[in-house]
Amino acid sequence: MAISPVPAPQPQVTERRATVRDVPAMFRLINHWADQRQMLPKALHTLCNTVRDFWVAEESGEVVGCCGLRIYTEDLAEVCSLAVAPGKQGRGIGQSLVKCCHGEARAMGIRRVFALTYQVAFFERLGYRIVDMDSLPEKVWRDCVNCPFLDNCNETAMIRELGA
Ligand SMILES: CC(C)(COP(=O)(O)OP(=O)(O)OC[C@H]1O[C@@H](n2cnc3c(N)ncnc32)[C@H](O)[C@@H]1OP(=O)(O)O)[C@@H](O)C(=O)NCCC(=O)NCCS
Repeated sequence: MAISPVPAPQPQVTERRATVRDVPAMFRLINHWADQRQMLPKALHTLCNTVRDFWVAEESGEVVGCCGLRIYTEDLAEVCSLAVAPGKQGRGIGQSLVKCCHGEARAMGIRRVFALTYQVAFFERLGYRIVDMDSLPEKVWRDCVNCPFLDNCNETAMIRELGA
């Protein structure tokens, strides 16, 4: 009987707050997927300005994922710019990063989080449901009005209530 080789253990992935040193890697990750039209691009200066919103996932000293929590009102925040490195997908990294954002939102007292996404099934697994974009006027008036895709936006608005 053939003995199958034991798979090598995967290096451990840890999530932590982003620092400015992570910005170049976040920039590469997000814009890699933006080039594939999976998400919207982000400028380097925007990531520097908003780096305090971000969590990163690190494996063997390398940034393999990022995700931001952007606060809109005392009750509402957006899970944004979620990106997992190509080749590192399907290992729970995206899910863990979103859960970090949920934990942070809960700690802040925020009760609702939303995402604009092409990854509907991924967010459904995390308890989000589809809503009409019009139910998120905070987002529309802050960002969408300036977005080049305003008139042909294909993203789906999804929201999740956070329990205590
Ligand atoms: C979408 C993305 C963030 C998912 O991250 P990931 O680390 O690969 O996903 P996870 O391993 O955490 O998956 C969590 C669960 O969602 C499922 N899932 C992941 N991607 C999915 C998809 N595209 N469609 C359906 N289900 C998906 C997984 O099977 C897993 O299910 P399980 O809990 O039953 O095992 C990642 O693939 C990515 O960066 N994609 C390109 C950029 C992008 O689309 N970003 C989102 C912008 S909003």
